[in-house]
Amino acid sequence: MEVRGPGDPECRHRIPALRPLTSPRVRHFLTIPDFTRPELEALLRLAESMRVGRYAARPLAGKSLAMIFMKSSTRTRVSFEVGCHQLGGHALFLSPRDAQLGRGEPIEDTARVLSRYVQGIMIRTYAHREIESMAHHATVPVINGLTDLHHPCQVLADVLTMQQHLGGHEGRTVAWVGDGNNMANSWIDAARMLGFALRLACPEGYEPDPTLLGRARREADVQLVRDPREAVAGADVVTTDVWASMGQESEQDERSLAFGDHTVDVELMRRAAPGAIFLHCLPAHRGEEVSADVIDGPQSRVWDEAENRLHVQKAIMAVLMGGEPLA
Ligand code: CP
Ligand code: NVA
Repeated sequence: MEVRGPGDPECRHRIPALRPLTSPRVRHFLTIPDFTRPELEALLRLAESMRVGRYAARPLAGKSLAMIFMKSSTRTRVSFEVGCHQLGGHALFLSPRDAQLGRGEPIEDTARVLSRYVQGIMIRTYAHREIESMAHHATVPVINGLTDLHHPCQVLADVLTMQQHLGGHEGRTVAWVGDGNNMANSWIDAARMLGFALRLACPEGYEPDPTLLGRARREADVQLVRDPREAVAGADVVTTDVWASMGQESEQDERSLAFGDHTVDVELMRRAAPGAIFLHCLPAHRGEEVSADVIDGPQSRVWDEAENRLHVQKAIMAVLMGGEPLA
C-alpha cells in the first residue's frame, strides 16, 4: 500500500471500514475500543500511578520503539521519546524525508522490517487504513500517534485530565465544539467505552464519522447538535480543536467561514457547569476556535492535559511492549 500524502484527496476522506487484524499474537492500540472498559480503567490507573510518581519500573529496558511521523508533531514526538526513555527503552524518530517509506517503500514491507529490529512501532499518518495495514503486517505492537480518523492517545490523556481535575469521568458531561475530526471521533469512542455523556456541536458538513457516531448514539449518551450553546449548557468539560487539521490547510478559508460561530469564548464558557474545565489537544489558534482569555484563563487545564500525554503513553507502552499487566 502506498502511503498517502497531503496532496492526495483520499487523505481528507474519512475511512470508516476497519478490517479485522489477523495477528492474534500481538496487541495494538489503534483506537480506544482496542481495550475493553476494564482494561481502559486499569490503563488509566497505571497512568495515574506514573503521573504521581508511584511507578519506578523500567519494563522497556533493552527495548526500542520506532516512531514514524508522516505529519508534524511536538507533543506526540517528545512525550513518546521521553516516556520510552523513562521506562528504560530507546526511541527512534523516522520521518518520510529520511526513511524509504517517504520514497514509496510499501508500508507492509516497512512493518515487516521494523518488526525485526524494534519491539514497538508508533506511527502518525494520514488515512487510517495505513495504520491498519501497518498493524496487520507488523509482528510487534503498533500504537496510533494520530490518523485522519482517530487520535486515541490524546483523548485518553484528556480523560486522565478529567480524573485529575474533576475526580473522575463517570457521570460527567463533555461538550465538543467544532470540527467532527479525529479528536471528535476518539471522544465519541471514549464516551461509549467509558460511560460519560458527550454533546458535539459541529457545523453542517463537518460531522464526525457517521459509523462511530451512529453506534455511540445507540449505545451511549452521545448527541450531535448544531448550536454550541446547547452543547455546552451544564457541561463539566468544554473542548475544541483547530478548524483545519493537518492535511486540510488549503480549506482554511472556507472552514473559517463555516466555523465562525464555533469559537469557545468566555461567554460560551459561562454556560458550562460551575467548575467546568477547558481542554484543547494543542496546537491552538487563539482567536479562532478558542479565545485567548479562555485558553490562558482560570478554567483552562491544557498544560496538564499536554503533560498527561506522557503518562498515558508510558502506560500504553509498558502494557503493550513491556508486559505490564492491566489489573
Ligand atoms: N496534540 C498533539 O498531538 O500535538 P502534536 O501534534 O504536537 O503531537
Ligand atoms: N485535529 C488535529 C489534531 C492535532 C493534534 C489534526 O489532525 O491536525
